Amino acid sequence: MADRRQNEPDALPGRRNAEPTARNSGKRPAAVRRAIRSELATDTPPGSAPTIPRRRDSIEPIVALEHVSLAFDRPILEDVSFTARESDTVVIVGESGTGKSTILKLLLRLLVPDRGRVLIDNQDITSLSFDEALEVRQRMGMVFQGAALFDSMTVFENVAYPLREHTDMNEDEIEQRVREKLQFVDLDPDLVMEQMPAELSGGMRKRVGIARGMANNPEIMLYDEPTSGLDPLTTNTITRLIMKLQRELNATSIVVSHDIRSVFRMATKVALLNNHRITFFGTPEEMTASEDEYIQDFLGGL
Ligand SMILES: Nc1ncnc2c1ncn2[C@@H]1O[C@H](COP(=O)(O)OP(=O)(O)OP(=O)(O)O)[C@@H](O)[C@H]1O
Ligand SMILES: [Mg+2]
Repeated sequence: MADRRQNEPDALPGRRNAEPTARNSGKRPAAVRRAIRSELATDTPPGSAPTIPRRRDSIEPIVALEHVSLAFDRPILEDVSFTARESDTVVIVGESGTGKSTILKLLLRLLVPDRGRVLIDNQDITSLSFDEALEVRQRMGMVFQGAALFDSMTVFENVAYPLREHTDMNEDEIEQRVREKLQFVDLDPDLVMEQMPAELSGGMRKRVGIARGMANNPEIMLYDEPTSGLDPLTTNTITRLIMKLQRELNATSIVVSHDIRSVFRMATKVALLNNHRITFFGTPEEMTASEDEYIQDFLGGL
């Protein structure tokens, strides 16, 4: 029997039926899509490299799903495969309830597939013991859907949490690391450290969620809809932050996002999940060039 463990304090919520789907909004004409593409092409912040620098030519995937199938009361994923190499940002898109968060849970081994393999650095994590899985999980940073923070903890304790759980850093080292990460996400540590999550704006909460996700300097960053529920300007800020983190940490990132503008800024590869399968995997440019009706519909509807 598969171990469908979901024992994390901030395990992700399930399907939110109220969210708009790609198919219920209008399709943009080709001229508008071209205009958006050209705008996005010039959207790199000044002083930043046009492409993400790579430490080395990495051939080996850091993250891979191989022929993964998973059903709950109905099939969710069927024969899903994709790879992410070092410093790749793979963005998973798809309609609500298609299994995007489920893929992140598989990578964290909060879930195990019915069939197929989940590889982190060539190691199949589906067969690991709970303790071994915990070790692999420590190499990952997760920004949960809704930026789920621990409401009863201060900002400081939220960001310090993975350091206390997974490292033997002393208090001074923890404080220094928390300050560094809060500064990275453009929050003033002296102003926010003692605040409670309820006192923060939505955008600030997302920043704290990112600071917590990156506290451990992970090799792999997972983000579940980091910009959902934010206004366009704050969405922009968070997107830039993720790109900055990507440049500086050089991690392999897997991002679930509904926001197509952010997707096109961040992604080295886009994976489109539809009807239980990945029906497209390629660069944003390849995606916009696709003649596939569903893809065009999807791009136009977001
Ligand atoms: N632990 C579980 N037990 C039973 N069904 C589940 C469980 N977790 C998820 N599901 C179901 O699996 C499907 C995929 O869920 P998932 O949360 O991965 O979708 P999603 O693509 O992330 O959706 P959204 O865009 O709304 O966040 C949904 O129908 C959900 O209800
Ligand atoms: Mg989800």
